[in-house]
Amino acid sequence: MTRKEFIKTGSAAATAAGFTGCLTATAADKLALLGGTPVIGKAEAAKRSGIFAWPIVNDAMLKASNDVLLKRKMSGTDITKEFEAKFAAWNGTKYALACLNGTTALNTAFYAIGLKPGDEVICPSITMWASCSGAVNIGATVVFCDVKPDDLTIDPASFEAHITPRTKAVVVVHYMGAPCDMDEVMRIARKHNLKVVEDVSHAQGGLYKGRKLGTIGDVGAMSLMSGKSFAIGEAGMIVTDSQEIYEKSIRWGMYIRIPATFGMEGIRRTKDVPFGGIKNRLNQCTSAVGLEQLKKYDAERAEIEEAMLYYHKSIADIKGLKIIYPKWEKSNKAGWYSSRCLYDPAAFGGVLNTVFSLALNAETGGGFSAGCNFPLHWSSVYDDEDIFGDGKPPVRRGLPTGVTPKQLTGNLPVSDDINNRVIGDPWFKHFDKPVIDRYVEAVHKVSANVSQLKDYKGKAKFAYWN
Ligand SMILES: Cc1ncc(COP(=O)(O)O)c(C=O)c1O
Repeated sequence: MTRKEFIKTGSAAATAAGFTGCLTATAADKLALLGGTPVIGKAEAAKRSGIFAWPIVNDAMLKASNDVLLKRKMSGTDITKEFEAKFAAWNGTKYALACLNGTTALNTAFYAIGLKPGDEVICPSITMWASCSGAVNIGATVVFCDVKPDDLTIDPASFEAHITPRTKAVVVVHYMGAPCDMDEVMRIARKHNLKVVEDVSHAQGGLYKGRKLGTIGDVGAMSLMSGKSFAIGEAGMIVTDSQEIYEKSIRWGMYIRIPATFGMEGIRRTKDVPFGGIKNRLNQCTSAVGLEQLKKYDAERAEIEEAMLYYHKSIADIKGLKIIYPKWEKSNKAGWYSSRCLYDPAAFGGVLNTVFSLALNAETGGGFSAGCNFPLHWSSVYDDEDIFGDGKPPVRRGLPTGVTPKQLTGNLPVSDDINNRVIGDPWFKHFDKPVIDRYVEAVHKVSANVSQLKDYKGKAKFAYWN
């Protein structure tokens, strides 16, 4: 679906809604997007930008990174192993293995669970490509399933409907911090003898029914890059209780650690050549920063949770905006990475979320966005892209003649439409009520005066992809 088609859908909704919805507009405050006075002016926005600054870099982090440089230990493994041991203890898994980034962590995890060329992996369509492209590297086929419209995580029923005799694994993504329904995912996966990879890139330290995310499936893999909630640079981590998965992960890309793991007899034929042909070792400056981040992350996460729940409570009366938050006990949204809330265009007279978030940014100086990741099943890479130029799309290698990945994926109506139905929350890192209240004021102002946006013709874009 193109952006033009998106806009058409929005216009149709506007007409159908007759532009009434929740328009209880009181005194018409001219919106800043249309030339009115913003709620938060430039000077005030600059003063308050600290509420969004991330990661919080302290002196201990600077010193830790400097020490590694001064000792010239960037390419060693001692500090990384200490980081892994402490990360595993914090995460509640037997093993943790630090990787270059989330992409290589996921790629490694797919190998380590036993994925082979020709196998099929099921992945929700709404996520970043790295959640599943590692499977393509191995020569597997990715089949996409749909997500739930209320929290954007994998729809267990759609997952089950996409299983074929060739399916070997599912990758689930705790998307934008929201935990997947892991009881359902695990029940279905075990029934069909499938491995479960948890992509925890958006939800480090999050809980599902009291259990840490990344400890429920066979293996967790995650990004720790500097935009994420556990943010230490370009980095990734694999977590698992399985010795086999841990050791296979080392075999794939940790060449300096292969002899110690497998013994000289174990590498008699292969020597220390990694099976994956990659060097996945994390830079120790980053590991040292990670050790410091572990000491303060839980406290930072708790403050973010307080701030974000306060913000959402303060806008809960606005019909058409709805918090995404897990419904289960002892569950949370981790560090609220890139959190989304639900946006109902009909409740706003059909005004597109792109326009609504643009208006919010005009009132505040920034912090809001529209949409989420584009649906991956729209990409030809997973269906018929001739990557090697030999006339054979590699993702079709294991499929019976005449069967295509696109056919296996079929229609995913929620994924196709979800970009129209979500807005990115401002990501408050501090529970500073007076500052948050100003953003709340802006949301109320735009909601109450949304009718002014009905004929807005300026350029309004989705967050990530146009
Ligand atoms: C869900 C998800 N998985 C994996 C990755 C890849 O991680 P990295 O960028 O560290 O390679 C990202 C993005 O960064 C992501 O959002």
